[in-house]
Amino acid sequence: MPRSRGIKATVQQVARLAIGAGRCQKPRAILPDLPESAFVTAADPAAMRPRRFTAQGPLTGRIRVPGDKSISHRSIMLGALAVGRTRVTGLLEGEDVLSTAAAMRAMGASIERLPTGEWVIDGVGVGALLQPRTALDMGNSGTSTRLLMGLVASHPITATFIGDASLSKRPMGRVIEPLSQMGADFTAAPGGKLPLTLRGLSPAVPITYRLPVASAQVKSAILLAGLNTPGTTTVIEPVPTRDHSERMLRGFGADLTVESAPDGTRTIHLAGEADLKPQTIEVPGDPSSAAFFVVAALIVPGSDLVIENVGLNPTRAALFDVLRAMGGSIEEQNVRDVGGEPVADLRVRASTLTGIAVDPAVVPSMVDEFPVLFVAAALASGRTVTTGLEELRVKESDRIAVMRTALELAGATVTETEDGLIIHGTGGDPLPGTPDASAVATHLDHRIAMSMAVAGLASRAGVEVDDTRPIATSFPIFESLLASATGMA
Ligand code: S3P
Repeated sequence: MPRSRGIKATVQQVARLAIGAGRCQKPRAILPDLPESAFVTAADPAAMRPRRFTAQGPLTGRIRVPGDKSISHRSIMLGALAVGRTRVTGLLEGEDVLSTAAAMRAMGASIERLPTGEWVIDGVGVGALLQPRTALDMGNSGTSTRLLMGLVASHPITATFIGDASLSKRPMGRVIEPLSQMGADFTAAPGGKLPLTLRGLSPAVPITYRLPVASAQVKSAILLAGLNTPGTTTVIEPVPTRDHSERMLRGFGADLTVESAPDGTRTIHLAGEADLKPQTIEVPGDPSSAAFFVVAALIVPGSDLVIENVGLNPTRAALFDVLRAMGGSIEEQNVRDVGGEPVADLRVRASTLTGIAVDPAVVPSMVDEFPVLFVAAALASGRTVTTGLEELRVKESDRIAVMRTALELAGATVTETEDGLIIHGTGGDPLPGTPDASAVATHLDHRIAMSMAVAGLASRAGVEVDDTRPIATSFPIFESLLASATGMA
């Protein structure tokens, strides 16, 4: 019998226990041992790092972007659950992935970076995660939070998850719901948000769960919980999302099968109480990071840039097809397989872009790339129409509203709808740029900061970004790579 009280009951209980309007006012009444940082409500203005990104001339040469964020998180988590030593090269050393590493260490795994840049992970084995002694600080990372909630849910341990102001606004109900069905018990802030305490159940209850939202994080949370659950855990996804968890779970030796129906529905079965075998993993370059340089090279006249080693898993790469449909010159060279993922070098040349209506069916395969697609659209000729983007409103920021405001400040013509943006492009003329003394508000969202940095490269006055610090969550070398691609390094 699951011992879940259900999300409704726990949220009401939390509300009774002195969490006032807005954010937690007396959080210690319910979660007594949390540090002050768990309740930060806004970025500290004194610590913000503003920067004006200006036109620098063409992007040329060859660059390499850091490792894929999704694969990096999963390498650490699965390595920490295997018995023996997993070796990882090309791991993204961004803050989000480091949050995952710190949490897995707090639960018993040994995770070290060698001077060569290789990471070695000595796992504890499925079922053997230890009780963390302090709250797990997830920083800005939704992927760390949701996937780790899955891992903890089927272990007999209790963990408290805390995060920054952006993460503390994001919905966790989508994972609380299925994990409660598996027997985990939750105490969350109102609305099913962080800070949140999870009490796992072992043995957990295997479930069959149909995803109500297209989310690889929810799918992965359930599958990771299923690893230490007797019987078969089944996830049905009506709309396919990134499949790194499935590929990697199989690679680590889990018994996982996928049935695909003619309408695209995927049914994933995972046999529980798995024994994971350590792996040697080479993480390919992140297509979501490459995206900023692809768009920059397309919109800055005279550019001819090669981005090496970009992951092109079909569940991730739709942006490049959309940009090609807009007239972008993006050529795949040296197509190969790296660690079970398709990879190529992308040669990108400055192109005349034309606006299009983006098919909402491709949204899950480019869900993180819309902010930078909006920038490409702002420089294209004619109208670009995007729909079906509701999920963008619950990312690190509300990326529909925040990008609308940001692009308008930079002089673009944008209409916001409930589920997308309609953008009237300049036809290739530079954007005016942001006025003196006003800056784009990034709201602790790395992809807003980098997208608007790219917009600055194709602007007359430059684009002022209020805070570049969030870039370090996913792409710590973004600014130095930009300098080198534009010959300013
Ligand atoms: C991710 C899934 C996506 C994506 C995020 C990474 C993952 O989130 O936006 O950046 O690694 O599983 P959703 O599952 O919320 O769509």
